Amino acid sequence: MERTRWVNVAILMCLFAICCGREINVKHKRHLADYNHTLATTLVEYASAVYMSDMTQLFTWTCPRCNDLTEGFEVIELIVDVQHCLQGFVGVAKDLNAIVIAFRGTQEHSIPNWIEDLHWKQLDLNYPGMPDAMVHHGFYFAYHNTTVRPGVVNAVKRAKELYGNLDIMVTGHSMGGAMAAFCGLDLTVNHETGNVQVVTFGQPRIGNAAFVSYYGELVPNTIRVTNGHDIVPHLPPYYPHFAQKTYHHFPREVWLYNIGFGSLVYTVEKVCDDSGEDPTCSRSVSGNSISEHLAYYGVKMGGESTCKVIMDPRLAAYSTEDFEGNVILSRDPFASIVKTTTEPNVPSDVI
Ligand SMILES: *[C@@H]1O[C@H](CO)[C@@H](O)[C@H](O)[C@H]1NC(C)=O
Ligand SMILES: *[C@@H]1O[C@H](CO)[C@@H](O)[C@H](O)[C@H]1NC(C)=O
Repeated sequence: MERTRWVNVAILMCLFAICCGREINVKHKRHLADYNHTLATTLVEYASAVYMSDMTQLFTWTCPRCNDLTEGFEVIELIVDVQHCLQGFVGVAKDLNAIVIAFRGTQEHSIPNWIEDLHWKQLDLNYPGMPDAMVHHGFYFAYHNTTVRPGVVNAVKRAKELYGNLDIMVTGHSMGGAMAAFCGLDLTVNHETGNVQVVTFGQPRIGNAAFVSYYGELVPNTIRVTNGHDIVPHLPPYYPHFAQKTYHHFPREVWLYNIGFGSLVYTVEKVCDDSGEDPTCSRSVSGNSISEHLAYYGVKMGGESTCKVIMDPRLAAYSTEDFEGNVILSRDPFASIVKTTTEPNVPSDVI
C-alpha cells in the first residue's frame, strides 16, 4: 500500500518536473510541519543524550543528560557502530506517545576537521529510486550501509509489536541530524511507516534540490532547527544562482537567534518559509560559529563521545557483538532492567 503511494508520488513528481521545470525545488503540495516549541525542546534533550558514551547509563536511562524532559524514557535498543564511530538509540517515550530514535553526531574534538571537509563534499550518489535526486554518499552510508539501519529498523518493528502504532520521532544533531533525515525517509519509503516526524539540530545539507522535493513530499513533518551563526547548516555550500546543481536544504527551517543587549537578550524562534533556503533565516547571517553549533536551546550538544564501547559487563546478557566489534544492546521494554545498574550510587558530579 505504502509502496503504491510512493509510486504515485513519484509519478506526480515526474509530471510536475516536466510541466514546471526548474521551479520544482520550492513547491510542496503537502502541508508542511507546524513548529512545536515544546516538542523541539524535548527532542533536543534526546539529541544531546545520545552523545553520552557510557552504554550502561544510556541503556538504563540514568546518564547525566537522561532526565528533565526525557525522564521515564525506555530504551529498547542501543546501537554502537564502533567501526564507523556511530551511535544511536531507539526507545519509547510514553509522555510523547512515540517511539524516539536519536543519532549521535561527530565527536567534539574532530568537529573542526569535519567542518573543513564539509566545504568540499560532492553530490556523488543517486538516491535509489528517485530520479535526479543526489546526495552525499558519506552521509547516506552512515545510516544505510552500517549496523545502524538494521538495528533501528528491527527495534522499531519490535516497539510496534509491543505498543501498537505509535508515532515515530527521529532526531539528531549535526551529522546525527543528517542520519535522522535519511532514517525518517527510509522508514517512510521502505518500511511502510506512517506518522514519521523528523526534528534535527544544526545539520548540514545532505542533498540537491530534486532530493529535497521528494523529501518534502514524503516526510513533510520535518523541522530543521538552526542556531544563530552556527556554521554547519551553511555547509556544504549553497549557490543561489545554481540552485538546481548544488546542495539544498529541505524545509522547514526554524532559526533561533538572539536580539537585545546585555541583560535584555532574548531568543527569537523564527519559523521560516517552505523553500528550505529561506534567505531571511540562517542564510541571512554568516556561518562563522562553532560554539553556536554546540548549544541548542541552551542544551549542550556534542561531548565526551569516544569510538570505544564503555559497558558494564553485567549488560552482556543484552548485547550482541559482530566480528567488527560493533555492539547492539537490546531488551524487551516490559522486562525490568538489571537492578545492579540502576542502584542509587550516582557519582556526585552527576547531580
Ligand atoms: C506540542 O508537543 C507536545 C509534546 O511535546 C504536545 O503535548 C502538544 O500537544 C503539542 N502541541 C501542539 C499544538 O500540537
Ligand atoms: C556497503 O557496505 C558493504 C559492507 O560493509 C561494502 O562491501 C560496500 O562496499 C559498501 N558500499 C559502498 C558503495 O560503499
